[in-house]
Amino acid sequence: MFKQLAEAQPDPILSLGIAYRDDPRDCKMDLGIGVYRNSEGVTPIMRAVQLAQQRVVTHQTTKAYVGLSGNEQFNQAMMDLLLTGTSAHERAAAVQTPGASGALRMLADLIYLAKPETTVWISNPSYVNHKPVMEAAGLQVRYYPYFDPETKQVDSQAMLEVLAEAGDQDVVLLHGCCHNPTGADICFEDWQSITELAKKNGFMPFVDIAYQGFGDGLEQDAAGLRYMADNINEMVIAASCSKNFGLYRERTGVAIVVGESLAEAQKAKGRILNIARSTYTMPPDHGAALVAEVLGDAELTAEWKKELLEMNQRLICLRQGLVDTIRAKGSHQFDFIAKHKGMFSITGLTAEQVKRLRDEFGVYAVNDGRINIAGLQEEQLDYFADALLAVTQS
Ligand code: LMR
Repeated sequence: MFKQLAEAQPDPILSLGIAYRDDPRDCKMDLGIGVYRNSEGVTPIMRAVQLAQQRVVTHQTTKAYVGLSGNEQFNQAMMDLLLTGTSAHERAAAVQTPGASGALRMLADLIYLAKPETTVWISNPSYVNHKPVMEAAGLQVRYYPYFDPETKQVDSQAMLEVLAEAGDQDVVLLHGCCHNPTGADICFEDWQSITELAKKNGFMPFVDIAYQGFGDGLEQDAAGLRYMADNINEMVIAASCSKNFGLYRERTGVAIVVGESLAEAQKAKGRILNIARSTYTMPPDHGAALVAEVLGDAELTAEWKKELLEMNQRLICLRQGLVDTIRAKGSHQFDFIAKHKGMFSITGLTAEQVKRLRDEFGVYAVNDGRINIAGLQEEQLDYFADALLAVTQS
């Protein structure tokens, strides 16, 4: 049986973590996988999450199964967080999933069930797991232009021109905020234009939002998604609590279906539960229980929002600090990093330059040139700036 298998391809992001761990150099820096680290280089358990954890552990009396859709308070709280104030809030249904990758897969499977011939359009470039997940579900994938390598910003005109070709057999996958890997986000007017195209041409939007709170703020980061949800009959959303609740290993995500009516959304939810049953049956409980505890308590919610804002502000300072440090060394080559949003920036480094970063400086970035700004510490900026300049200028 297994002799016939070809060797597995290592994941371009996850494999970096192993190489980093095995690197003996003291100067090494992990700017690969998207995790937030504080100024001590630690990925903290957020204060509100710690408090929620104490409560959950104290009050929990059983480990009996929760149910196919997971924690319904969590599901409701996530719909509130994402869709409050929109008409979609009243015609949406949610299923707790194992991380947002689980949500991507459940929603892709749902789309395949509804329309197996669907093509999913994804941005060029996009999160490395988008294409594999969509294809694993049996869907076709096409790319729409997104990132302008010259300006390091979104090429809105090229994007909208190509998206105008998408029709009623198509799904368009968008990043809710903090685009992964580029750090370049579409503007509110782009959200409006894509909404218009979806209404006119009949494609369904699929929004993956994994970094809410790491761009312009918790509410602002959902503004485009909310506009779209308010103005469109059908869409699906995959959301993650890995980053904004710091729950990475707990695998806490949600799949949301917005339907023409609540009954339609609930019907779709029922089908997702069928798919979940034949895949993993139920999601793990702990992370969702913590989020439900935080979002169900005004004090914990306020504490969570405060810390998320602190993290976001530190991230913005790191971006500016890196640009200032590079400028002080006489180069404006990386000024665009200050304009990007969220954890990541595409630096424009070639795979060869990324390899030099790793070999000569112990700096681990993704081969496509993506760096995780949220993995930097203030005291590393100078070293990292020198490394960037060395590999790009000599
Ligand atoms: C990343 O892009 O680094 C994260 O979203 C982690 C992952 O699942 O790939």
